[in-house]
Amino acid sequence: MKILSIVGARPNFMKVAPLHRAFCTTAEIESVVVHTGQHYDAKMSAVFFEQLELPQPNYFLGVGGGSHTEQTAKTMLALEPVLTAEKPDWVLVVGDVNATLAATLVAVKMGIKVAHVEAGLRSGDRQMPEELNRLMTDAVSDLLFVTEQAGVDNLLAEGVAPEKIQFVGNCMIDSLLHYIEKAQALQVPAQMGLQGKPYVLVTMHRPANVDHAAGLQAIVSLLHNAAKRCHVVFAMHPRTQKNLAQLGLLGAVQAIDGLILTEPLGYLEFLGLMAEATVVLTDSGGIQEETTFLKVPCLTFRDTTERPCTVALGTNILLSDLDPVTALTHIDQVLHGQAKQGTVPPLWDGKAAERIANYFIDHQ
Ligand code: UD1
Repeated sequence: MKILSIVGARPNFMKVAPLHRAFCTTAEIESVVVHTGQHYDAKMSAVFFEQLELPQPNYFLGVGGGSHTEQTAKTMLALEPVLTAEKPDWVLVVGDVNATLAATLVAVKMGIKVAHVEAGLRSGDRQMPEELNRLMTDAVSDLLFVTEQAGVDNLLAEGVAPEKIQFVGNCMIDSLLHYIEKAQALQVPAQMGLQGKPYVLVTMHRPANVDHAAGLQAIVSLLHNAAKRCHVVFAMHPRTQKNLAQLGLLGAVQAIDGLILTEPLGYLEFLGLMAEATVVLTDSGGIQEETTFLKVPCLTFRDTTERPCTVALGTNILLSDLDPVTALTHIDQVLHGQAKQGTVPPLWDGKAAERIANYFIDHQ
């Protein structure tokens, strides 16, 4: 059986890596990896291939940046001849980025079966490009692998046939467990002079937060306030950097005393920093899950989450606006030992990819 897996953007790499590894350990599956090139900087892409021990992709489509239409359409045009040549039995897509939806559309229209990993997650907010990608991908996929119970419930409520839905756990947590020792051995906090010291780790990249002046100004105040309490590490996404620079706010960020400003970090470096962080401030999807697994307090700057188990079971707290005062109150609570406690969600045990591989083998 030939399974062709699609990666496009940073959050895809850590999900496909354990799947490719699991597929390669069985003689029944041939694994082909296609990189659409939505993310192309060395620090957003190549470093992940290297650190996650992914092979050079069999195909690189070189799609690059652009509007959503441009990215989706370019991916579709470039992928069609690859699927014609490879004739896979399955196209496997992960997550909710533009590459996920684009590949799904091409495959289903060519009559190739699609399996979606991380299916069923819903924020209920159709302003989010990812929510549209999730809804459309799930609507036409043949097989839906789910990370948490809410995903199963959402799909059933949308009328999806139960036999299409498989609750298998979380491939991103497979990667975390596989690499945590290696990540910690790098001693990144110590290299930044943070060993044994409290620090806040910050990432922000969602259009709703960083694509307008008010959001960016609030982020600058947030960083300022946090740095009054302890060290702050801000790993800046290219979108955020570009927008801060355009508004002339980059200098204000660079000038914050006690702030360590970095480019996007490698998987291992970020994981090492996250594991030792006092609290993480983010608007990412995946980081909500990783901090829940690591039992590190997480403040998520969003109104909704498509990953509700991180709030119900884990250490995640949603903060519905970028209010720097509220954020500081929460940081103070954590610094005073009053952090939210959490448990690890069911099946986040490092074996999700193995379950997926076994499912394919058992249902050939
Ligand atoms: C994408 C995903 C988002 C995910 C995020 C993680 C969609 C709709 N969004 O958002 O779900 O959380 O990735 O990073 O698919 N850029 C670079 N270098 C790169 C990649 C991007 O400079 O290697 C620039 C692009 O040119 C663009 C901006 O960053 O100006 C945004 O990139 P894009 O892929 O459109 O979306 P992300 O915000 O990264």
